[in-house]
Amino acid sequence: MTNISITYSKNNVGAYINDINLKNLDQGKAEEIKKTLNQFGVIFIKEQNLNPESYQNFAKSIGQPVVYPRLKGFNEKFPFINVIERKPDDKNLSFGSSWLHQDTSYLADDRPRYTMLMGIEIPKGQGNTIFSSGFNAYEKLPNEIKDKIKNATGIFSSAGPISVTRLEREKEMGIKSSESLEAEHSIVKTVSGKKTLYVSPGHLIKIKNVKEEEADYLKNYLIEHVNKKDFIFSYEWSKGDICLWDNLSILHMASEIKNCKRIMHRITIK
Ligand SMILES: [Fe+2]
Repeated sequence: MTNISITYSKNNVGAYINDINLKNLDQGKAEEIKKTLNQFGVIFIKEQNLNPESYQNFAKSIGQPVVYPRLKGFNEKFPFINVIERKPDDKNLSFGSSWLHQDTSYLADDRPRYTMLMGIEIPKGQGNTIFSSGFNAYEKLPNEIKDKIKNATGIFSSAGPISVTRLEREKEMGIKSSESLEAEHSIVKTVSGKKTLYVSPGHLIKIKNVKEEEADYLKNYLIEHVNKKDFIFSYEWSKGDICLWDNLSILHMASEIKNCKRIMHRITIK
């Protein structure tokens, strides 16, 4: 039994945590937040407006923050906070937009599990973050498909379709693009006792351990399936909001932003 107050999000994609101030968090509450996160896959905590120190401390109460080398750091004191800035005259695709994905699925073992964003400067009416629940998508699969994919693995590549948004970001920052990374993971995972789909359409390039002649069909089927509107929740940001998700069970993507400025602080957590 939990003593934090939660509200289910639309389509049951994650939960809002209500009446909480992350600046003053005791160990017990932090553990309940983490339990809720693992159970629902994504949590939304409105209008926290944390300073960098409190934000980084909250991340540490969830797990081990990690440095994400392809994004700009906040400063030397807060190396785990990445600044994601969209300028009004930016014309290219927003970082992480257009394809649902699960962050860093192209890494093998020991990859970071959680991603957290806080809204610093939020334009009105655009820039929602789109979430899809792997739990709900798995549950609604026909039994015949569940059976076909029960031992399936996927090959996930950093050069998958979403890489175009990363390459643009690296060009902006003057980073020479690194070689592509690939990893193989099971497509069906169990988190908090529930099965979930790990298919990261932005990175998935091939499905293995299924009948060879069905591999492409299953890949396309699963990608289409997780994109169905029944499994989607489009989160509209307010300044100071925090979204924190588990990349094992939740898929996400950025939506397009045109002619306005937006700043987010991101922390990647193991
Ligand atoms: Fe992402």
